[in-house]
Amino acid sequence: MYQFPHKNILDTDQFTKQDLDFILEKTNIMKELLHSGKSFGLLHGKLLASLFFEASTRTRLSFESAMERLGGRVISTVGFQFSSISKGETLYDTMKMVEAYADIAVIRHPVEGSSRIAAGAVKMPVINAGDGAGQHPTQALLDLYTILSEKGTLENITIGFVGDLKYGRTIHSLIKALKFYKVHVVLISPEELKLPDDYKKNLLGSALSFEETTDIKKIWDCDVIYVTRIQEERFPDHKEYDRLKETYKVNKELILASKKNTTVLHPLPRVTELSTDVDDLPNAAYFKQAEYGVIVRMVLLCLCLGKEF
Ligand code: NCD
Repeated sequence: MYQFPHKNILDTDQFTKQDLDFILEKTNIMKELLHSGKSFGLLHGKLLASLFFEASTRTRLSFESAMERLGGRVISTVGFQFSSISKGETLYDTMKMVEAYADIAVIRHPVEGSSRIAAGAVKMPVINAGDGAGQHPTQALLDLYTILSEKGTLENITIGFVGDLKYGRTIHSLIKALKFYKVHVVLISPEELKLPDDYKKNLLGSALSFEETTDIKKIWDCDVIYVTRIQEERFPDHKEYDRLKETYKVNKELILASKKNTTVLHPLPRVTELSTDVDDLPNAAYFKQAEYGVIVRMVLLCLCLGKEF
């Protein structure tokens, strides 16, 4: 029988297709448990350390909500200025201490690779909630779940990624997960913000096919349009950000010219790249996407802590 083999969740690369399908299936089960009130108590007595050293609204609150909805509890630190890292403590030492206080940790940090360092310091499970421009695997899982829920399938669909494909970690994680499915991906970005070559190499020989373009009208051919924010905080040169920040604006007019049933996703927060006039269209699924974050994270907390349901 299949047993979920992972203690940590650090990078979507760690998953097989079987792992992904298992998580998606478990998410449906958890949805039922949550709605019937039976999820409460699954993690009773467990403590989550919520360590967010970079800005977050949805990811942090949905992890904390997930833990509380499972009957567990949360301790947290937000921002460097309120943790001993501001006094020069290393992440390694911080994690050693956190291990004494909690059963599982979720960490967001501006440095790529930091969650792996954190996981290497401790025996308890560690979940990466975003490490710089690197990975954001739990977002990818909730994105997969949203696409599956909206489209009824993860096969034979065309998905457009729009915006900052260079620094956008949600894209980096999602595209690695999608490579197991027969999808066509249209990568739409300015030349300067194309998907890095390593990610493209990773897709060679996979079930996924892709094309690259700068033309926003390519979204008209897509079944799913995944819009992303230009990642201001990752640009070494702010003038470059100012030059590129308004490259695309996905608005009602563009969506109405697209396939009738196209689904619009965005990991949020949005700035100007996705107009609020899209919100009222039946195609807009980004608030639902954010909502699914709680259920998917409930599943992941249970799986990492070895709690069966
Ligand atoms: C994303 C992130 O932090 O990478 N937000 C999120 O977790 N929902 C996307 C972003 O900040 O643009």
